[in-house]
Amino acid sequence: MSVPVTTSEEPARELPRPVAEIAAGTSIDPRIAALVPGFDAPFFQAGLAGYSDGAMRLLARRHGAPFCVTEALLDRTLINGGKGRRKEDPDLIATECGMGEIEDNRAATLDDHPIAGQIMGTDPGEMADGSRILLSMGYEVIDVNLACPVKKIRRSNRGGHFLAVPDEAIRVLESVRRATPASVPCTVKLRRSYDDTPEMVRAFERIFDAAYDLGYAWTTVHCRTVVQRYEGPGRWEFLSALTAKHPERLVFGSGDVWSVDDIFAMLEICRVQAVSVARGCIGNPWIFRQARELMAGRPALPPSIEEQGCVLRAHFDLARVIHGERSAGQRMRKFGIRFARHHPGESEVKAAFIRCETPAQWFEVIDHWYGVSEAKAPSVPLAVSATSARRKTSPSSSRSPQASTERTSSTRSPIAASDPAAA
Ligand SMILES: Cc1cc2nc3c(=O)[nH]c(=O)nc-3n(C[C@H](O)[C@H](O)[C@H](O)COP(=O)(O)O)c2cc1C
Repeated sequence: MSVPVTTSEEPARELPRPVAEIAAGTSIDPRIAALVPGFDAPFFQAGLAGYSDGAMRLLARRHGAPFCVTEALLDRTLINGGKGRRKEDPDLIATECGMGEIEDNRAATLDDHPIAGQIMGTDPGEMADGSRILLSMGYEVIDVNLACPVKKIRRSNRGGHFLAVPDEAIRVLESVRRATPASVPCTVKLRRSYDDTPEMVRAFERIFDAAYDLGYAWTTVHCRTVVQRYEGPGRWEFLSALTAKHPERLVFGSGDVWSVDDIFAMLEICRVQAVSVARGCIGNPWIFRQARELMAGRPALPPSIEEQGCVLRAHFDLARVIHGERSAGQRMRKFGIRFARHHPGESEVKAAFIRCETPAQWFEVIDHWYGVSEAKAPSVPLAVSATSARRKTSPSSSRSPQASTERTSSTRSPIAASDPAAA
């Protein structure tokens, strides 16, 4: 199954005041900062199976993401030390929610903190054992996935399936919480319900209440149903109603966060305490820098083409360390396609990435379209706000700053600027 990446069905959302004003008055809820030192801004990088490995996380952090969640890791994968996963669910790997590799999700370096290790499974006992393994891997938070909509996962009683069987879901939550020392926050990823029937709506409420009763620090609620998968707009009104009903609880929001403006719109409209950035940050680590800039009262500038090229190279270098050259090449093809949307010659750049069969060809695309050769690229991407202060494009004012400003970047590289296809 392919996962929709566009935002065409998203409803227009009215904001009572400009995004820049909302962002400038935004800070982290002190309860979150106290629970997870270092979680110092009200947004984070979501778990994204097939994408959010150590390489993507480190890039997100270098651009300002204060907290990241791993891909969902199967309890049995953890218990078997990584063995058996491919045999069990061969068609799910790297396509959608569910099946992270242990090695991809181990905190990448000392910089890859704070981080939540996300666990998914069926049996409460195995979930508890898996959580203990996650703890030994050094995650600061244990996040339980009760949200994954993949059919195979549902059939084997995992992920979003649990939203239809609240007693079983609560047993899993209880077991993981009991296996985890009180000093380590447990959290849970939910969908707004299994489906829209009254019975399932009640089931959600039971599980949601039980999580807090059991001592879970926060829930992250994806405002689509399990049945809805990734289709159709997320129901932000659901999140607004949930937080209005439970103002004392920490609730994080997920669904239809495509741009930096969406982060602050969700905070303002839904009154969640933090926003989960998911598809909106694939090939777009700048969303985190832009959010930091807006919070500091500065304009949210788009990345220059040269900067895009440097980040693509840095991403490949990190992926190479984690996955090895060949596998990094395969992964980076799909990332290149997602990064291409920032480039003025989007369709040509995308086509060029799609044609890549070897890492060498991939680097030729970077060289040609971004004007960044190996000699020119810094070994690490630029730090938060270091480059943006130097650029002079206009501030973010529209709903989607990427769409409105990136194509008019004044800092295009010589090669891209002189290529008619890039204009
Ligand atoms: C390819 C893909 C993989 C995902 N993997 C995970 C995962 O491993 N764990 C998780 O909690 N959510 C996962 N999600 C769900 C996202 O974190 C997020 O809740 C969802 O995409 C809705 O947000 P969005 O509409 O802003 O993308 C995944 C979503 C996608 C598209």
